[in-house]
Amino acid sequence: MNPALGWGTTTFLLLLAAVVCHGHVERQEQWEEVPQLGESRFGSLWPLPQNVVISPVAFMLRSSSFQIVHSAESSAGPGCSILQSAFRRYFEYMFGYTKNQGGNTKKGQDSEVTELQVWITSADSECDAYPSVTSDESCEFPEPMNFLIFFTCFLFINKTDVQDFPRFAHRGLLLDSSRHFLPVKVILANLEAMAMNKYNVFHWHIVDDNSFPYESTVFPDLSRKGAYHPYTHIYTPTDVKMVIEFARMRGIRVISEFDTPGHTQSWGKGQMDLLTSCYSGENPTGSFGPVNPILNSTYDFMAKFFKEVSLVFPDTYIHLGGDEVDFTCWKSNPDIQAFMQEHGFDKDFKKLESYYIQKLLDIVGSTKKGYMIWQEVFDNGVKLKPDTVVEVWMGSNYQEELQNVTAAGFSTILSAPWYLDYISYGQDWQRYYKVEPLAFKGTDAQKKLVIGGEACLWGEYVDATNLTPRLWPRASAVAERLWSNQNVTDVGDAYNRLTQHRCRMVARGIPAEPLFVGYCDQEYKGL
Ligand SMILES: *[C@@H]1O[C@H](CO)[C@@H](O)[C@H](O)[C@H]1NC(C)=O
Ligand SMILES: *[C@@H]1O[C@H](CO)[C@@H](O)[C@H](O)[C@H]1NC(C)=O
Ligand SMILES: *[C@@H]1O[C@H](CO)[C@@H](O)[C@H](O)[C@H]1NC(C)=O
Ligand SMILES: *[C@@H]1O[C@H](CO)[C@@H](O)[C@H](O)[C@H]1NC(C)=O
Repeated sequence: MNPALGWGTTTFLLLLAAVVCHGHVERQEQWEEVPQLGESRFGSLWPLPQNVVISPVAFMLRSSSFQIVHSAESSAGPGCSILQSAFRRYFEYMFGYTKNQGGNTKKGQDSEVTELQVWITSADSECDAYPSVTSDESCEFPEPMNFLIFFTCFLFINKTDVQDFPRFAHRGLLLDSSRHFLPVKVILANLEAMAMNKYNVFHWHIVDDNSFPYESTVFPDLSRKGAYHPYTHIYTPTDVKMVIEFARMRGIRVISEFDTPGHTQSWGKGQMDLLTSCYSGENPTGSFGPVNPILNSTYDFMAKFFKEVSLVFPDTYIHLGGDEVDFTCWKSNPDIQAFMQEHGFDKDFKKLESYYIQKLLDIVGSTKKGYMIWQEVFDNGVKLKPDTVVEVWMGSNYQEELQNVTAAGFSTILSAPWYLDYISYGQDWQRYYKVEPLAFKGTDAQKKLVIGGEACLWGEYVDATNLTPRLWPRASAVAERLWSNQNVTDVGDAYNRLTQHRCRMVARGIPAEPLFVGYCDQEYKGL
């Protein structure tokens, strides 16, 4: 095969530096534009590629003759599981799931595209590896951009050149499976939607105060006693493996979060003496506070638990939480008071918190994993490994926090302006869209330390019934902000593209909510 094929031949060539580029092959099924919408000169592309030139020259694709193949020069071949899975997925996105091969157009016309060649140019194709923060997601693509479809299995595409790469390496989405249990099916559907929006990190806030659905093999009582239900509302090791593999096939990292020392009520049910006993005067009240930081048994437990977690979750990072620690219970406990005196912490409970976190970080650091933490850990002056990623989440003054974190030389991700669990009337996606993550005072070197951001959907008011429509397409706005060029800021153009992108998600079975009045040619049909 000739890799230098030009237009007018029957082959597309797709150059990929790595296998994790999500591609842009799109299906647009509108016969007419929705009247009140404008037409973007970029059609329905979302997120907008870094460079894209669409020409009026058109090619035809037919499901009966079109195929996606490996270029002879590619460093990956048919043994590449991640590519084979992508080929199948995109073929189905393009032509639907129909087997109908009908057609009355002559085969082999000059204007028909019959082949898409995929050429992985990097020496390491990462076919069997897990994606990482350094994965190369860039690609070049004479991009098929559909503007018309005649029959189910015919589509026309404009000749389009694309060079694309993400602006930020970490484009994450946080889902919370503790406040409400999220069935695996719902998680997989959202990983699929994430890939459609070029998200590449699933931040799995898997346990919290309310329930402990992660089934540990070393400490099975944690979920047996701490989950909402010991076998219907848990993630078994098999479930977790399935989520990780499904994500890998879509270029998505799974970063698990096991938040301590606060947010741990559910841990206490299955692990004796892990939490601090709260006192009223001289007497225990029977209620519990954060993890007990003064017992050796606490650290023995953490070492064993995080050893397991580091093996179960292959990503090189673990999120260790560290947010919102309530000191009331620690303050009430006489043993803790004595420990504070002994260690010269006086009445400064932040020092006790730091003492705990420091020991935890050393434990997790020894598993050779990197860690991410919420901003309080940094704010409290805990000594962090240089590769620590600090997540900035507090709404007030997040620009100054970014400034402080990067001035101290740490990588950071921003989630403060992207808490999607806050909902309101109207098009709040625009507010997320207008955020500029680098709009803080700092040197170029500081700005480089902002490796991305995360949209967060906390689970207090969300379960399988409403998670997906609440998330999409609002999270798509964050996705474009994190992927596209800094100068892609036209809200009107975004509206026109996002409306079509949302209909595309709906056509692919994702119940993404509408942006405003209007319709999709293919409305959501339910399950
Ligand atoms: C695609 O090609 C058609 C037909 O030549 C043209 O009318 C249309 O404007 C092109 N689309 C874009 C987005 O440039
Ligand atoms: C806890 O561990 C420390 C350091 O390893 C040791 O000095 C101390 O005696 C231990 N305390 C108990 C109660 O075992
Ligand atoms: C940033 O650091 C300065 C100087 O230490 C401090 O006064 C300020 O409160 C910090 N800002 C935030 C948001 O923590
Ligand atoms: C954004 O900047 C790039 C060059 O950095 C340019 O090619 C592109 O046309 C610009 N896009 C917009 C929407 O202004």
